[in-house]
Formats: sequence, structure tokens, C-alpha cells
Amino acid sequence: MTTTTATTFDASHAVQRVVAASRRVQQPQSSGDLVSLAMGEPDFDTPAQVVDAAAAALRAGRTHYSPLYGEPTLRAALAERIGRLANRSVDVGDVLVTHGGTGGLTAAILAIVDPGDRVVIPDPTYSLYADLISLAGGIVVPVPLGPDLHWDLDALDAALVDAKLFVFCNPGNPTGIVHSRAELERLGAALEGTDTIVLSDEAYADLTFTGEPFTSALEVASLVDRTVYCQTFSKSYAMTGWRVGYLWGPSAIIAAAARIHNTANGSMNTAVQDAALVALETCDEDIARMHEAYARRRSLMADGLTAIPGLDVSSPEGAFYLFPRYDLDLPSVELVGRLRELGVAVRPGAEFGAAGEHHLRLSYAASDDAIIAGVARLASGFEALR
Ligand SMILES: Cc1ncc(COP(=O)(O)O)c(C=O)c1O
Repeated sequence: MTTTTATTFDASHAVQRVVAASRRVQQPQSSGDLVSLAMGEPDFDTPAQVVDAAAAALRAGRTHYSPLYGEPTLRAALAERIGRLANRSVDVGDVLVTHGGTGGLTAAILAIVDPGDRVVIPDPTYSLYADLISLAGGIVVPVPLGPDLHWDLDALDAALVDAKLFVFCNPGNPTGIVHSRAELERLGAALEGTDTIVLSDEAYADLTFTGEPFTSALEVASLVDRTVYCQTFSKSYAMTGWRVGYLWGPSAIIAAAARIHNTANGSMNTAVQDAALVALETCDEDIARMHEAYARRRSLMADGLTAIPGLDVSSPEGAFYLFPRYDLDLPSVELVGRLRELGVAVRPGAEFGAAGEHHLRLSYAASDDAIIAGVARLASGFEALR
């Protein structure tokens, strides 16, 4: 008889696939005099009225299970918001409240992708996508971005032939790029006549600095009917720890995603959803206030980086990231380790895809002081390593 012990245990094939595919790098604990420009989350506190709403909900006994698709009042408000974007009446039944953007992406990808399905992603992009596609047994097809970090539309056209799904974020993590209406329309045209589904992760939609209004995939007629829209409260409302997001899309896909979400997550936190509704209804000024601060910090960081020899700074269009290319002959993981020893934490470009190599991801969701000090350390670090 064989017994399974910790020493004989092999993780499931699903886990092994994720481990084999994953490029995600666990950040070491910060210690000592380290300036961090590595964070992927707002450094602002959640607006006070949202915190108050959660506390009031808990005190009012909102401590029980919530319906599996989410609280009806929140879903109705989300359906209205999505309807305004898509310029159509949206059925509340097609809105699924999820455990953050992560829960929405997981539910959508596991609901859509079968083993062997080809799933196209930009390279580099948010590293969770490849992990989730691998979890589902799909084949990750990374398509390198152009030198300006926008999509290489010809390469994308070729890769999308027979693809089950295309997953992307707009604005982009790690690139800080905002894909324009023209790019989205070009994508819609390329997919015409195919069954390829699009998963549009618009986590940073409120954070654009192009001077042009942001275009959601839901606003593009040739995309909307094939698009699963994934959104989160994490970035716009500085609510990363609350874990609330949502999906909307074609009814059959949302029903399938709900099946996964209900199986893996069960029902969502009731008081958190009450607070999310308050965020949706009352935070316009907070979003504007944070946007103003990010805009200032973005210039501060971009100006500082542009002055460093050997760094080619990407155009900072959205999210809160810059993704400069560097000319040192060092892999990005190694360079990040060296820079850390010199007192500044950033993320290696290779973490986001093979084509992200020789780039660094810097976040300006940090204080002005941290940006000034971090950029100064980066400048002296590059000088020392040259
Ligand atoms: C592009 C993108 N999508 C989704 C997420 C996940 O967000 P959430 O905190 O809602 O799970 C992140 C987090 O960094 C992200 O960068």
C-alpha cells in the first residue's frame, strides 16, 4: 500500500503547469533604507465615506451570505454604468460581482479556455493572464509589442487566426500604454467573421493622461458583442484590499464564468459590496483628486528618468507605470537585484513576458519624495553599473 506523505506528494498537473509557465517574481520583504517604486497599487487610502459605509453595513448586521451573482443593488448600478459605456440597455443578469479583478479574470478564463486552446496575449502584459491560461491547460501565444509598446497589429492579426481568446489590459500594465479607439477598431476588424472572444481588462480605465477620452472595448461596435469586460474597484477607488470587481459580457459566457466563480469563491462579502456601491455613487471627486496627484507624479518620474543616460523612456499614457528600456548588458531580474542593493526597488520587465526583457517597470503610485529619491538612486545605480 502506498501512502501519500509530504515527501511523496506531487502537486496536480494544473499547479505544475502554472509553476512551469509563471514569470511572476515574488517581491522580497522590504527592509532598511529601501525606496520602493515597485508597487502595483495606489498609495492612497480608500475614500473615508467608503470605509464608513462598510463599517455601518457591518454594524447594521450585513454579515450574512450575499446572493451568488452579487448584491442586486450593486449589480443594478453596475448594469447602468456598463449600459452608459456600451450605449445600450444592459441586463442585470449579465453582471457578475467578483473577487476583485483577479476573481473575474480567473472565472472568465476558466469558463472559456479548454486544454489545447490557443490564447493570444500581448508580450509583455500583466503576468496573471499566462498563469491562468496555463491553469486552464490552454496554449499561451505571446505576441511581442512594437517598439513603441503599442500592439504590433500585423503580428497580432497572424497570431489571432484560430485563437479561442485574446486577453489584454487597457491601459496597459506594465507598459503604461493606452490603446486608442483606432487600435481597438483595427482589432475588431481583424476578428470580423471569427469566433474569437476578447477579454478586456480595464482596471486602469480612470487613469489616463493622453488628454483624449479613454475608449473602452465596450464603446467599439465591432468588439462589444464578443467582449468580456473585466473591471475592479482596486485601482480607481484605492480599494485593493477590499477584493471587489465585476464582469459583464455575452450571457452564456457570464453564466459559465459565474459557475466557476460560485464554485471557487462562493458568495462575495456583503458589507464590501454595500461599500462598493457607495464608492460608485460618491467617489467622482476622489477619483479626480487622485488623478491630479498621479499626473503630477508621472511628470516628476518621467522627467527624472529621461535625464538618465541609457534609459529610453516609454510614453506615459496611462495606469501608473513607466516601462523604460535600458542599454546595460544585464538581464532585468539581475539588474533589479543590483538596484535593490543600491536602495531602490523596481520590477523586472521580464516578469511580464520574454519581450519585456531589458525593461524596468516603475510605479508612480508613490509619494513625490519616494519618486525623487528613487529616481536619484536609479541614476547613481546606472552610473555605477555602467
Ligand atoms: C491589469 C490588471 N488587472 C487586474 C489586476 C488585479 O486587480 P485586483 O486587485 O482587482 O484583483 C491588476 C493588479 O495589479 C492589474 O494590474
